[in-house]
Amino acid sequence: MKKAWNSGICRTLITKEEIAIKVKELGKIITEDYKNVEEELIVVCLLKGSVVFMSDLCREIKLPMKMDFMSVSSYGDAFESSKEVKIKKELDESIMGKHVLIIEDIIDTGRTLKKITEILNMREPKSLKICTLLDKPSRREVKVTVDYIGFEIPDEFVLGYGLDFKQEYRNLPEIAVMGPLN
Ligand code: IMP
Ligand code: MG
Repeated sequence: MKKAWNSGICRTLITKEEIAIKVKELGKIITEDYKNVEEELIVVCLLKGSVVFMSDLCREIKLPMKMDFMSVSSYGDAFESSKEVKIKKELDESIMGKHVLIIEDIIDTGRTLKKITEILNMREPKSLKICTLLDKPSRREVKVTVDYIGFEIPDEFVLGYGLDFKQEYRNLPEIAVMGPLN
């Protein structure tokens, strides 16, 4: 028999109601911050972990915008962040002269975002900002400036709302701490 969809979960860290409130708040702040910009706003979703957050957040940004998607390798199927970051899927369009807002699920060591911001900054966007749902500041190894943060969380491995363990659990509606069953 199939295992239950939440079988690897130990406890809920952030409920779906708390996430929904935060996403609305972030959308409101972002809308306010970009409401007077002339140039295009491109919201960049980092696949795959950010896809659930992005799809909710972009509907709370009440401005004209375009979506683009980028995929980089960070974790393999393990807990440790890889030291090297490789682009697996490129953006479809040029970001030169545009306002770019990167959407990330979680910032851990910071290595993924540091590399991505270096790469995207070389393409001369008008501005480049980062919005992350989760931040684990105690794990940071490199400095990254994050403009919008949903929740700061302790150093625990979390799942759900886009975040995975071995590609599973992304469809859980809440953020949960992984249990010992895995
Ligand atoms: P960083 O380069 O160490 O900041 O890694 C960021 C990436 O690692 C995130 O985009 C996630 O894909 C993954 N990651 C970090 N912490 C967790 C976690 O607790 N659960 C699931 N994925 C995580
Ligand atoms: Mg990610």
